[in-house]
Amino acid sequence: MVVKEFEKRILCIGAGYVGGPTMAMIAAKCPQYEVTIVDINTARIDAWQTDDLPIYEPGLLEVVKQVRDKNLFFSTEIDKNIKKADIIFVSVNTPTKTYGEGAGKASDLQFLEKTARNIISAAESDKIIVEKSTLPVRTAHAMERILNTNDKNLHFDILSNPEFLAEGSAIADLENPDRVLIGSRETESGIKARNEVVGIYANWIPREKIITSNLWSAELSKLVANAFLAQRISSINSISALCEKTEANITEISNAIGTDSRIGSKFLNASVGFGGSCFKKDILNLVYICESYGLNEVAKYWESVVEINDYQEKRFVKNMITLMFNTISEKKIALFGFAFKANTGDTRESPAIYVARHLVNEHAKLTITDPKAIGNAKEDLKPYLKEDISSIQFTENPYEAAKDAHAIAILTEWDEYRDLDYKKIFGSMEKPAFIFDGRDILDHEKLFKIGFNVSAIGKPLMKHF
Ligand code: NAD
Ligand code: UGA
Repeated sequence: MVVKEFEKRILCIGAGYVGGPTMAMIAAKCPQYEVTIVDINTARIDAWQTDDLPIYEPGLLEVVKQVRDKNLFFSTEIDKNIKKADIIFVSVNTPTKTYGEGAGKASDLQFLEKTARNIISAAESDKIIVEKSTLPVRTAHAMERILNTNDKNLHFDILSNPEFLAEGSAIADLENPDRVLIGSRETESGIKARNEVVGIYANWIPREKIITSNLWSAELSKLVANAFLAQRISSINSISALCEKTEANITEISNAIGTDSRIGSKFLNASVGFGGSCFKKDILNLVYICESYGLNEVAKYWESVVEINDYQEKRFVKNMITLMFNTISEKKIALFGFAFKANTGDTRESPAIYVARHLVNEHAKLTITDPKAIGNAKEDLKPYLKEDISSIQFTENPYEAAKDAHAIAILTEWDEYRDLDYKKIFGSMEKPAFIFDGRDILDHEKLFKIGFNVSAIGKPLMKHF
């Protein structure tokens, strides 16, 4: 048997939402490279080798199937794969620290540091190490110190190549990104390493979209991009509160301001709040970094983005309780959607978690429906399920979820919720029936005509009493 010689051996440590899709795309676009993904989580690695992938992402399975066992491999043999790799992408999780100095704000870098130590102990040749995880600015400096203080006389070039994909559209984002950013030391060896990684992406991305910068700019750009995106949502959400007091309509405002080319139309959808594993974590990390440099005003400015988000979630629940005659005890409420956004099963930091917990604390009975996130929702609400097994039910069928309910709350903007037969749903509900549209995706006039009392984010209240 002739063993195929690959041009380059690429390794990714961390087989999660970023490592999996990113490496699958590199493998698909670069058949001349061998791409391997390793993880300490055996169950995850096993799942990547089946058709029931560990994450749901439209189009991902097709890409994985195209390259799996050809030039894309999954493994738990970390040391062996470190040894043979030329370039190592590090895509481990970097959650908010929950203990010690910086708890609640700083990034927990323990997984990154363990990976760095793993690389030193297993490596037998010089390598390029690429930070793919989102990290505090100047982390590469610490990585350099850890990696290059080795007694094997090995040299490691550290690069920063942050990932900008969004869940639900990861494949399209990876195939046709707005830009790819690669930061390096501006030394001869740093620039040579950077050019190597530019060369990978240049296999399918136009060269002008591949931006290079110094290491610190690349690391910080990632935090700033997420902070700016989240800030737009908090800005529009703050105005949604004012709309509800003044009969202005937030969708009309988003349209009106979004047509200004300087403002732009994206990321102006008012909602029950932003979720996801990164916005809150990355902004709090930015806040912590600013505080640690004594930039307290800057820290406060960015922290307010998270505060408005918390306020929006709280406001949504409070409004539900107030409108439903100040008590929801024993009332059945259907939650339509639990994922933090449509087209993903991910529920990390989903506003639905806050809403559900709060409603249960008010003794409401919940029925949760979601096309992809019921498994994760059960995990998120585990403590509540133990306390009173009957207070939360789950079903994939929204009609069943709404039956005998006093209210529906739309928490995820799944397309299927737009076109349900709301007349039929209204007929099956307790009266007066309420709809709380936390995503502004429904036809509110139509619902009101059917008989619903409609309360939508940033819209005039429509009620029959
Ligand atoms: P994830 O939790 O889905 O995956 C991380 C994986 O790393 C896990 O499977 C974990 O078992 C593995 N891991 C941890 N320590 C390890 C070790 N020492 N050796 C081998 N494997 C190890 O996380 P994710 O969502 O893929 O995020 C990874 C990074 O990318 C984070 O820094 C995140 O901020 C950033 N990011 C995420 C997204 C996103 O959409 N989720 C987008 C852009 C950037
Ligand atoms: C976000 C960024 O968009 C990515 O560029 C980044 O790579 C990623 O974080 C990351 O670092 O993890 P993601 O969290 O997957 O991606 O999804 P988004 O589309 O940004 O949505 C985040 C949250 O904001 C969702 O809860 C979404 O429903 C909400 N959102 C988004 C709004 O409430 N209104 C909007 O107009 C847009």
